[in-house]
Amino acid sequence: MLLSQQQWLRQRFFVLGSLALGSLLFLMARVGILDRLQFICPIKDRMPPAGVSWQTPLHMLWQKQAHRLKLRRTNSTREKLQMHHLIKQLPRAIIIGVRKGGTRALLEMLSLHPAVVKASQEVHFFDNDQNYARGIDWYREKMPFSFPHQITIEKSPAYFITEEVPERIFKMNSSIKLLVIVREPTTRTVSDYTQVLEGKVRQNKTYDKFEELVIDTNTCEVNTKYKAVRTSIYTKYLEHWLKYFPVEQFHVVDGDRLIIDPLPELKLVEHFLNLPSKISHYNLYFNATRGFFCLRYNFIFNKCLAGSKGRIHPDVNPSIKEKLQRFFHPFNQKFYQITGRTFNWP
Ligand code: A3P
Repeated sequence: MLLSQQQWLRQRFFVLGSLALGSLLFLMARVGILDRLQFICPIKDRMPPAGVSWQTPLHMLWQKQAHRLKLRRTNSTREKLQMHHLIKQLPRAIIIGVRKGGTRALLEMLSLHPAVVKASQEVHFFDNDQNYARGIDWYREKMPFSFPHQITIEKSPAYFITEEVPERIFKMNSSIKLLVIVREPTTRTVSDYTQVLEGKVRQNKTYDKFEELVIDTNTCEVNTKYKAVRTSIYTKYLEHWLKYFPVEQFHVVDGDRLIIDPLPELKLVEHFLNLPSKISHYNLYFNATRGFFCLRYNFIFNKCLAGSKGRIHPDVNPSIKEKLQRFFHPFNQKFYQITGRTFNWP
């Protein structure tokens, strides 16, 4: 009799415990804690089922799979999906550049916010004529599923320097918010060079030294034909954007500060996007091995950016470095003047 009572109690404990755990998991998924299963470096045993993008948040995977099953069973339409409040929304903010400014880190860190959903891949809709010709529905289709209260953000750093892009984005949404993340221009130029260099080395190709590319051997002046130099003349591109959008629609992020102290920069972005301040110290921790801040979604899931972010730069001849800094100086002054944000760049 006593034994069966104990068994009954154990059974009850087990059932109630399972129920509590199930409810807890459901609640966590609902409020978005488990939403954050978006790995940059995919870990094999945590990968979602084959055929499903590994960047897709877990709860959306569940929802998407459930919907897909339903679609198969009941021939439901996209409208039915929408009834479940999951939709694909055009971005309400875009990280337009600058390449090597920290665009990936910014996007990933912003996606820590429960109201932000990111397009994991660079979409290259506005800068690629072929993609642009596919139309706005193609672009929307590239966006992740989100709830209506969330905002979708994408990043394609090539947008900043591609002439056709401002007009095309303006045609889509003239009040869109535009994020530009910049670094000290000479550092950014070296970073750009390092990325291309790494690609060449991987393909066993030879590549000129940094000093040979940034200086025009005929004039001994800075070589503005070299793309990595041109991209760092931020004001030149920004002025073109300002033909379409007022300066208030831009927010400039300090990419150098995002590396060493990301939270204040993220707070400024939250404010710019009219989002309540949700990203906290808890979400960002410094990883000494990596040498960078990494992301913490909850007590289980965290991640650092892939190794291709945060490369070791080659040493640059100090006189060439100075020459570049002198070259960028007047453009920087203009950039501060236009944006109202001043940096301690040399
Ligand atoms: P380096 O590789 O030159 O260090 P983008 O994503 O636009 O290509 O920018 C890459 C840069 O982001 C890297 O340049 C790196 O310094 C910077 N970055 C900023 N925060 C980072 C972080 N938390 N982890 C890794 N890289 C980060």
